[in-house]
Amino acid sequence: MGIDVKGQVALVTGANRGIGRAIVDSLIAHGAAKVYAAVRDVASAAPLVAAHGSRIVPLELDLQQPATILAAARTASDVTIVINNAGVLRTATALDAGAIEALAYEIEVNVNGLLRMAQAFAPVLKKNGGGAFGQLNSVASVKAFPGFSTYCASKAAAYSLTQSLRELLAEQGTHVLSIHPGPIATDMANDAGLAEIAEPASLVGEGIVAALKAGDFHLWPDTMAKQVGGAYADFARNVVEASGGE
Ligand SMILES: NC(=O)c1ccc[n+]([C@@H]2O[C@H](COP(=O)([O-])OP(=O)(O)OC[C@H]3O[C@@H](n4cnc5c(N)ncnc54)[C@H](OP(=O)(O)O)[C@@H]3O)[C@@H](O)[C@H]2O)c1
Repeated sequence: MGIDVKGQVALVTGANRGIGRAIVDSLIAHGAAKVYAAVRDVASAAPLVAAHGSRIVPLELDLQQPATILAAARTASDVTIVINNAGVLRTATALDAGAIEALAYEIEVNVNGLLRMAQAFAPVLKKNGGGAFGQLNSVASVKAFPGFSTYCASKAAAYSLTQSLRELLAEQGTHVLSIHPGPIATDMANDAGLAEIAEPASLVGEGIVAALKAGDFHLWPDTMAKQVGGAYADFARNVVEASGGE
């Protein structure tokens, strides 16, 4: 069942820059009543407040600090759409001496952070009638890139958990959306050496609004992502989405 963001109360992690910022802009542009800008440093949400006024509510949230997630879930008790966008990338290949340490950090933020968010916000979304939970995965969730091997492994793990959450949260009427961008023009893409082929972050924000409305599970928002998603579509439909779901 699709969800129109108009009138909804959303929360976006990593809202202060990059893709998170673009998601907030799209949610507001399409009529969200309120967006909790969940950020590590609340001062970093000031430009969002300047742009959108009182519909933005800055909130402290660090995916590595469970207490901040639990506190945010208590404060954002009226939330109906949660988008877990925040994530980290280390450019470590599988053969680098630092690969295990890089993977541990990426798992801590990209995977444990997702688990903490899902566990903290599932009861809130249930109380508010179901709503939606979106997770920023990647084309790297289904196709490894050796230059950042450990990041890809963490995004594959996050995608696996997102699939389970789709079926688990369906029982309470919460729609789950798995978002799989290719290279998007942000600090992270710059750090990964992808600036030349990166596309605008607004594609992700607008894609999320449309995918929520359509009730889709997978979103492949940009040119590279659409190519990967197109090749993956049969498997997605006949295997991943064949059971359960809201
Ligand atoms: N850009 C791409 O090409 C691309 C492609 C596919 C998927 N993605 C995914 O999209 C998401 C956003 O990426 P991006 O490109 O916008 O990244 P970015 O420009 O590097 O921004 C990362 C965001 O995550 C926040 N963050 C980092 N660690 C955090 C933590 N422990 N707790 C809470 N927030 C934390 C950052 O906050 P601070 O400002 O406080 O550091 C920042 O807001 C990530 O999950 C990424 O894996 C990106």
